Parts: sequence; structure tokens; C-alpha cells
Amino acid sequence: MRLALSTWQEIEAYLSRSKAIVIPIGSFEQHGPNGLIGTDALCPEIIAGKAAADSDDILIGPTFNVGCAQHHMAFAGSMTLRPSTMIAALADWTASLRRHGFERIYFFNGHGGNIATINAAFSEIYAEESLKAPQNDGGRFALCLRNWWELEGVQAFCEELYPAGHGSHATPSEVAVTYYAYPEAVKDAAMSPPIAPTGPIRDAADYRRRFPDGRIGSNPALATPEDGAKIVARAAEAFRADFERFASADG
Ligand code: NI
Repeated sequence: MRLALSTWQEIEAYLSRSKAIVIPIGSFEQHGPNGLIGTDALCPEIIAGKAAADSDDILIGPTFNVGCAQHHMAFAGSMTLRPSTMIAALADWTASLRRHGFERIYFFNGHGGNIATINAAFSEIYAEESLKAPQNDGGRFALCLRNWWELEGVQAFCEELYPAGHGSHATPSEVAVTYYAYPEAVKDAAMSPPIAPTGPIRDAADYRRRFPDGRIGSNPALATPEDGAKIVARAAEAFRADFERFASADG
């Protein structure tokens, strides 16, 4: 189920059987010569969408699609939030969902640069809960951060598909996932060198000097829609099990 395609009555009925919701969360940032700027927001959307396609027990909320990407701002089209803005926005998104009775909020992340800020947001949100009067029992309220590549078996599968040139930014696996869902957006671009350099991430100007075409350690020319289909199938299955565990009383 998708929140965007539901009526309020359908959501009221959903809440009578589940208090859990998925929020895909990503980034709008350059992904090298052949990767799409929306990659990090699209990957969790695509994987969760596949798992939810035939399920009335997985509800997908809006994608939080602009994240912390200051280090990509020297490349055209990248967008970023300050960490403080993102923390405030995540707190308001969560409070909105809490208002209706959602208690288990699963943030399904596609961008490594969001992790520190999402965890800081969770600390703010839990502090707010803890500072309420004791009679305001939060019940089963819980937040979850899950990076899609960390779902059971997924990283190992991607490294098996791409034993050389997987890298850490603009990876062939994330590019393949988007090519599977949007074959009309497949790009053909030369990679020079074939495998990009690696190094630290600092500010935007430093990033562009170190990684002139935007990639880090990767060769995304290896990405194909067929590989993407395999990655999405595996990740969707692992996601469904992980979400169901979190949504249940014991998760
Ligand atoms: Ni990415």
C-alpha cells in the first residue's frame, strides 16, 4: 500500500491492523557519469515498492528525498539539507505520523551520508518522548534505520555480482537497481579510469578535486537492468522479513 494512493478511511482501517509504516529516505546528488541524480532516493523506493506490491500489510509513506549531501554540491543538480534542518524535518514527519497512531516508523535509507544525521534525529525524538510527563506512556513507539544494502545477504550478493569495481559511491549495484526500474534512463558513458580512486570525504570543493567525475572506487559501467532485477528481488525479500519483524510486537 502507498500512503499517496490511499484515502484517509483506508489509512484508518490500516491502523486498526498495523501501526507500522515505511519511509524511504535518500538524497538528490550526482552519481558519476552514468548514475541518476535521484539514485539514493529511488533505490529504497524501488525495493520497498516491489515488496509492497502484493501486500496490504506494508504501508509506504512519502520518500524523504533530499538528505545530507553537502559534499556533492560542486556537481550540477545536487541538493542538500543542513543536518540541523534534516533533524527538524524528521522530527516533524515523525510527530505527524505519531498523531494518527503510527508507533513503528521504519526509515529505509539509500544514502550513507544520511546515517549520522538520522541517528541524531532519533536521539532528539527519543529525548522528546523521555521528557514528557510519566503518564504519557509512549507504548510501543520505536524508530528503525535500515540501509538497503545492509539487509541480510544483499551486500554479499552485490559484491559477488561485481567482484572488482563495486566501490562506495555511484556503485554498479545502486545504478543497476535504478536501471531495472527506469530502463528508459539507462546512460552510456565512458569511465576514465575504469575504476575510480578512493579517499576521504570532506567538503564539496575537496570532493571534486579528489573525485573529478563523482565516483568513489567504483565502475558503474558494469550496471545492467538485468543485474538490477536480481538485486531488487533479493533485497525486497529481505526487506519484507525485516519490516515484518520490526512491525511486530517484539521487533
Ligand atoms: Ni548512492
